[in-house]
Amino acid sequence: MGVSETNRVEGGVGFHAPWTIMYRINLHSRLASRILWKVGYASYRTEHDIYRAAYGLSWPDWFTPAQTIKVKVSAHRCPLSSLDFVTLRIKDAVCDKFVAVRGRRPTVNTHMPDIRLDAFLDEESITLYLDTSGEGLFKRGHRAMSVDAPIRENLAAGLLQLAGWTPQDTLLDPMCGSGTIPLEAALFARHIAPGLSRRFAFERLIVHDHAQWNQVRYAARAAQHSRIPSVVYASDHDGAAISVAQRTFRNAGVETDIRLRQSELLDLDAPDKQGILVINPPYGVRLRSRDQLEDFYPKMGDWLKQRFMGWRAYILTADLRLPKLIGLAPSKRTPLFNGSLECRFYEFKIVEGPMRKQARLARATAKTM
Ligand SMILES: C[S@@+](CC[C@H](N)C(=O)[O-])C[C@H]1O[C@@H](n2cnc3c(N)ncnc32)[C@H](O)[C@@H]1O
Repeated sequence: MGVSETNRVEGGVGFHAPWTIMYRINLHSRLASRILWKVGYASYRTEHDIYRAAYGLSWPDWFTPAQTIKVKVSAHRCPLSSLDFVTLRIKDAVCDKFVAVRGRRPTVNTHMPDIRLDAFLDEESITLYLDTSGEGLFKRGHRAMSVDAPIRENLAAGLLQLAGWTPQDTLLDPMCGSGTIPLEAALFARHIAPGLSRRFAFERLIVHDHAQWNQVRYAARAAQHSRIPSVVYASDHDGAAISVAQRTFRNAGVETDIRLRQSELLDLDAPDKQGILVINPPYGVRLRSRDQLEDFYPKMGDWLKQRFMGWRAYILTADLRLPKLIGLAPSKRTPLFNGSLECRFYEFKIVEGPMRKQARLARATAKTM
């Protein structure tokens, strides 16, 4: 995306780039959660040092006192006793600076602020940021309504990447729920920038360059493809989920790229000789009970072995009994978090071979996972 060097920072990646690259990353990144603009850095020992660091920044050059603000503080090994008090001191410093320079102060709105300020404290230093994204970037602006347990859009995009899916591969999500995984696949295959249907916090900054932003958006629209090279299949047994998915696909302009139908998973046949299945079954923690899953998983394993020879199946689940219960040995497993829920993303290559050997292998591998 035009960034030549990056460095790992706590919980993210840091880079230097011109303003226009910040626009491009906000618009195009399928995986990032938010893009923060670093505006200050200082060492501290007390809350007063933090106040001084925040007061020293030129906030009135970046936004106006008519806008509402929210301060969010996170910390790692911070020796101070109260992060709430640190939050308050930063807010006071920003407001005092506005009163000194503009004679008026912004008000706080913790629910829907115009401007979000982020601060990160480690043992001895504080870094201050202005959030250029606003709402998390996983919010693409297409979702019609929610259903039970949807995954975040950036997790869905990440799963497709981990599965090695490319737009040339046939894709099937047979438990699509609100359609997050097929939607991300279709947007990717059509080169549709994930942020084209939403607004960003940088649009509210004084330093926002409308002309440059319009150019970035125009270039993104011009790069879109009119169709996808393969087929994305999506289904779910729940009619309500299918209606939500259908409306979401329509809002995103990819309705004709995804073959959506209502079906029980076990009734589906493979739509192609080869392809990739990405499945996000109910978890037991959130949806179906553990006993029901214990009954269902072996059937799902047989369904894969009997009907999807030559395919690769990827299953995201928090249930570590899954490989054993479906009777297949995973060729890869990637630990992941779905929100706060620790999961595994299993890869199964569905290849010809005696079922009993497969099941034995799965039982053996399950013991080590
Ligand atoms: C965890 S949710 C999937 C959420 C989805 N990835 C999303 O982001 O919205 C699991 C889905 O599996 C569906 N499901 C459960 N059992 C099924 C079955 N036997 N056949 C087809 N779909 C099933 C549920 O209706 C539910 O929508």
